[in-house]
Amino acid sequence: MRIAVPAETDGSETRVAATPETVKKLIALGASVAVQAGAGKASGLPDADYEAAGAQILAHGADVMAEADIVLQVRRPKAQDLAGLKKGAAVLAMMDPYGQQEAIQALANAGASAFAMEFMPRITRAQVMDVLSSQANLAGYRAVIDGAAEYGRALPMMMTAAGTIPAAKIFIMGVGVAGLQAIATARRLGAIVTATDVRPATKEQVESLGAKFLAVEDEEFLQAQTAGGYAKEMSKDYQAKQAALTASHLAKQDIVITTALIPGRPAPRLITAEMVASMRPGSVIVDLAVERGGNCELAKPGQVHVTDNGVKIIGYLNLPGRLAASASSLYARNLLAFVETMIDKESKQLSIKWDDELVQATLLTRDGAIVHPSLLPKA
Ligand code: NAI
Repeated sequence: MRIAVPAETDGSETRVAATPETVKKLIALGASVAVQAGAGKASGLPDADYEAAGAQILAHGADVMAEADIVLQVRRPKAQDLAGLKKGAAVLAMMDPYGQQEAIQALANAGASAFAMEFMPRITRAQVMDVLSSQANLAGYRAVIDGAAEYGRALPMMMTAAGTIPAAKIFIMGVGVAGLQAIATARRLGAIVTATDVRPATKEQVESLGAKFLAVEDEEFLQAQTAGGYAKEMSKDYQAKQAALTASHLAKQDIVITTALIPGRPAPRLITAEMVASMRPGSVIVDLAVERGGNCELAKPGQVHVTDNGVKIIGYLNLPGRLAASASSLYARNLLAFVETMIDKESKQLSIKWDDELVQATLLTRDGAIVHPSLLPKA
């Protein structure tokens, strides 16, 4: 059984889908592993380390892909990268499939069994494979570091002979995996932290991290969490109450980090241009939701820009990729854990258990067709 690790073809992607550590473990499972030359470079992983772990290093992506039973990627491979793929090969990546019908069809046409890692169910058995959590955790941490770097003042209170510097006020909007890590990081750096969310369960989590919780806690708030643990889209009425509550708070903040998302919907608009205009010069907004339309009306994807009133708005894309070594290390382990379930221990061959709930939840294409229910035309 052969496992391929091609270099990412998206030039902005710094992560890699396998590390020397996971390559060694894949080989121990009975696989041979081919890694494209330079695949780990942006994550600080030289070819020599992969070679020492037992991988074969090949110059061209097509040679890496040829004869592979399993292909490991960070991002969905493009149609042209799939030429020569073996029929029935398993392709594991963050597939970002919504609105990408053509690209997913290309995977089907290539005969791939394509798995979207971001669809992994959030059940106990699959926690080790949860790429959303592993990457969001790092994104939350990095958001605070990036915000602090752009902020022209110190975060902790400092008492010096020349006087006292006050602690920075940091406000986290959206307290999922990224938001919780942002709170913890901001607290460790000595900031005064407040946070908001629409799910009642977050109140205790925020307080247990030593931050103050701020939210409109009405009837709708009490019902805002779905059975799956996610947020619902809130009513116009709630949104107006939330805006009224947060507007005056925002004006007093030094750094605001927004992470609010609703599955399958555009990111909720939490910070309007008017709210930004009320903030002090030198304050910073980091919008982690920018790839899904942004929580801040003025955030620009991939850019840091300064508003007329001197507020810096950070819209970096791919925050986990700004910590490529850590992000690759965790992502590669997420993939390894899933691959382990696909290999027969006796025969050491690819043996996908098609009725496993992890497979059913993540499988997008099989035998030339798109099979995932969320991508099929609605009946
Ligand atoms: P997410 O990335 O979908 O959303 C981030 C946060 O934004 C959420 O906390 C959400 O409630 C919040 N949000 C949405 N609309 C908002 C609004 N209008 N105003 C303020 N905040 C808003 O969330 P993530 O990080 O994927 O976590 C979702 C859930 O999954 C959480 O309950 C988390 O604890 C749970 N989870 C469970 C795991 C498991 O293995 N059991 C693993 C990881 C997360």
